[in-house]
Amino acid sequence: MQNKAEYEQAVAVIRSRTQQETGIGLVLGSGLGELARTLDDAVTIPYGEIPGWPQSTVVGHSGELVIGRFEGCWVVAQRGRAHYYEGYTMWQVTFPIRVMYMLGVRTLILTNAAGGLNTGYKTGDIMLLNDHINLVGMTGHNPLMGPNDDSVGPRFPGMTHTYDRALRHLAHQVADEAGIKLHEGVYVCLSGPSYETPAEIRMLRIWGADAVGMSTVHEVLAARHMGMRVLAFSAITNEAIDDPDFETDTNHQEVLDAGKVIVPKLTTILRGVVRTLA
Ligand code: HPA
Repeated sequence: MQNKAEYEQAVAVIRSRTQQETGIGLVLGSGLGELARTLDDAVTIPYGEIPGWPQSTVVGHSGELVIGRFEGCWVVAQRGRAHYYEGYTMWQVTFPIRVMYMLGVRTLILTNAAGGLNTGYKTGDIMLLNDHINLVGMTGHNPLMGPNDDSVGPRFPGMTHTYDRALRHLAHQVADEAGIKLHEGVYVCLSGPSYETPAEIRMLRIWGADAVGMSTVHEVLAARHMGMRVLAFSAITNEAIDDPDFETDTNHQEVLDAGKVIVPKLTTILRGVVRTLA
């Protein structure tokens, strides 16, 4: 983890705009940032105005922090996130999560766009993460590497109970009541930015992954390191292609288009979850 003073500088700038305490943090991924527009009494701070905060260079990722009321509960939302493939270090990618913790966030809800590996998943579906495979971490890129500040979190944090069981149960309850289909499965994190080859897709399936994406897991590691409760959703924006002779290719535009369709469903689920937590 980086020098605490760097986080404190970011917190000071945010605190100069609003003193509001926020117990819940939202990370809104590709095409899902629109949800932040529905916050009431919002204070919006462009990432560029917060020292140390990494900016997303990706189309579909706006770059602003929004603090506002969601279902009557004060939340801090990241509208867009930075990714490892943009050239940021793991510490930079997880900087916003550390800052959110210092703002009072103890429950973190993350969203991402992902390709569906599970053949039962269709474009437009939503998957709740119950576990992950950190392929990037397995190859030696983990945000918890480097000096550890024991006052922040343990050197060797356990990852068995990464995705909070009670929160997952609550998400299912809310989705059921709203008539929204909610899958639950394993997310595999790759670095990107290239999409997977058909052979890689077949391999990831054999490994037991249900959805594939390029984010979330690094942030989740930082959050769990500090003891936050974590809930995460994948918006299934495309079905993974497992055949090299398939006529089309995966592309970012289809990911953004599908994200738009998923936002209303995801918003309903998030509203229900936050309302109950409040
Ligand atoms: N692969 C990796 N990341 C993604 C995908 C995908 O198919 N869709 C959206 N993000």
